[in-house]
Amino acid sequence: MTSFIPPLHEKSPHLPFGDQQDSAFYGRDIISVNQFDRGQLNYIFDVAHEMYEMVARVGSFDLLKGKILASLFYEPSTRTSSSFTSAMERLGGSVIPINNVSYSSVTKGESLPDTIRTLEAYADVIVLRHPEVGSSALAARYAQKPIINAGDGIGEHPTQALLDLFTIQEELGQVDGLTITMMGDLKYGRTVHSLARLLTLYDIRLNYVAPEILQMPAGIKEEVEAKGIKQASYEDLIPVLPETDVLYVTRVQKERFEDPSKHEELKGSYVISTETMKAAKDRMIVMHPLPRVWEIDMGVDEDPRAAYFRQMEYGLYIRMALLAMVLGKA
Ligand code: NCD
Repeated sequence: MTSFIPPLHEKSPHLPFGDQQDSAFYGRDIISVNQFDRGQLNYIFDVAHEMYEMVARVGSFDLLKGKILASLFYEPSTRTSSSFTSAMERLGGSVIPINNVSYSSVTKGESLPDTIRTLEAYADVIVLRHPEVGSSALAARYAQKPIINAGDGIGEHPTQALLDLFTIQEELGQVDGLTITMMGDLKYGRTVHSLARLLTLYDIRLNYVAPEILQMPAGIKEEVEAKGIKQASYEDLIPVLPETDVLYVTRVQKERFEDPSKHEELKGSYVISTETMKAAKDRMIVMHPLPRVWEIDMGVDEDPRAAYFRQMEYGLYIRMALLAMVLGKA
């Protein structure tokens, strides 16, 4: 009798359970937002929307039953790691959580490629957060299984940018035609690096509000420029707030500063309060990837334009969609 189980270490030509092997996402890594086009984004958002409906209706279901996610975080995380865990479990799969690498073999000096090779022997997909730019791309070079970048230092955070864009689409009904103002730590914030790049697929206008030393890196501005997107830099929010449709606030990233006194110096200079919100449009949203430290006063939370807590829920549906897609089930 012939066996349907292929030999170890050979890719299976057979996909059980009517999988979507021909999908553009099956088996693929998610490393950078530059890998997506608008058609694919619409598709991801449609699947995310279906995930939202399914969660609202039944909570959890068995789409990824038997699949295992390895969740490997070399940097702190609350939302990204727990939303991936929730996403996997709501889809009926399970998770190997490695949230504290100090208890793993990494402290014995194991290299990232070896850790990745290990985890892919036990899991079907790996979510990786790591302090070095390019770490997910490196991991993907060694892995046969899909790698999902959950933040590579100050590089990219593609799943965050996808959920940010989904938030804008769901909250304001469209992306084209909007003015998006990014404020805070644009130099070290990987979420704004990914989002600025992703937004170049749309007809939008970008404003950057930050002190000189935390401005958007020149390389990203050049990429945005090359796509013909209008962008402008400011040190103050006041001139651009009245025209802003999406105010995307970020935390000044203390952990990325070599000189802590520099961070102290900047603290408090870019804060959104209920007073600030008086100059904003009635129909606009305030977003933040979170965690928030001091950059948005808690009083703003009551404002219906404050979308940051809804934004993190959208992240669950986006991550459910992505997991289902890379595992060939959507
Ligand atoms: C962000 C991150 O880790 O890049 N958080 C997140 O993933 N939602 C933003 C931050 O740490 O400031």
